[in-house]
Amino acid sequence: MKVIVVKDYQAMSDLGAEIIANTIKANPSCTLGLATGSSPIGTYQNLVKAYENKEISFKDVKTYNLDEYCGISRSHPQSYYYFMHDNLFNHVDVREENVHIPAVSNDSLDEDCKKYNDMLHEASIDLQLLGIGGNGHIGFNEPGTPFTQETFIVELTEKTRQDNKRFFQSIDEVPTHAITMGIQNIMQAKKILMLISGTSKADAVVKLLSGEITPDFPASILNNHPDVTVIIDQDAYSKM
Ligand code: F6R
Repeated sequence: MKVIVVKDYQAMSDLGAEIIANTIKANPSCTLGLATGSSPIGTYQNLVKAYENKEISFKDVKTYNLDEYCGISRSHPQSYYYFMHDNLFNHVDVREENVHIPAVSNDSLDEDCKKYNDMLHEASIDLQLLGIGGNGHIGFNEPGTPFTQETFIVELTEKTRQDNKRFFQSIDEVPTHAITMGIQNIMQAKKILMLISGTSKADAVVKLLSGEITPDFPASILNNHPDVTVIIDQDAYSKM
């Protein structure tokens, strides 16, 4: 695991975008695994700038998102479908047919999971972007999730719902379930890039970098992946 400590959120976002832009330049038809949340927003802003400056094009890039809430529609401002379009896809030349975000049809959740999982098996993700939950979750793989898990419906922990409450009017509005790539899907990516910022992640950084691998802290499995880069800002690194 390559650890890079940078000054702040902006520096993390600059480096994150540079790594992703270089991946696209090296292979304009690459496949990216993408994340939502606060961590990648600055990175996406920089990628939009790089597109506007004609440094990169998403014309042939394929994307697969980690996860999506259950129980809210794609047009809901807090859906991850909405987030990705609002923060990245609407501002670059990605083709909608190349965008993949897990969807919940509500007919059969098992079928929804199988469909996305089959897509992931056919895809080969060149670079997977990740954030980390305060409890070590990656995607929505909460503590205790087996490392062999593939795409599934997860009941969100109280901690995760509280962490995400800031985006909703009240805790009651925060969805209770989500569909997520499993840990095994995430580990299939050729390269992984994790972004970690802020004091609220300082304890998670200590656990991640301790090297102990345990399902109680899902991100710890990244220690077993051959090509992981973690960009950590000074606030998140403050307990090291
Ligand atoms: C997002 C995702 C989550 C977030 C994590 C950190 O698609 O899968 O694992 O990466 O919850 O969220 P932020 O970046 O908001 O701190």
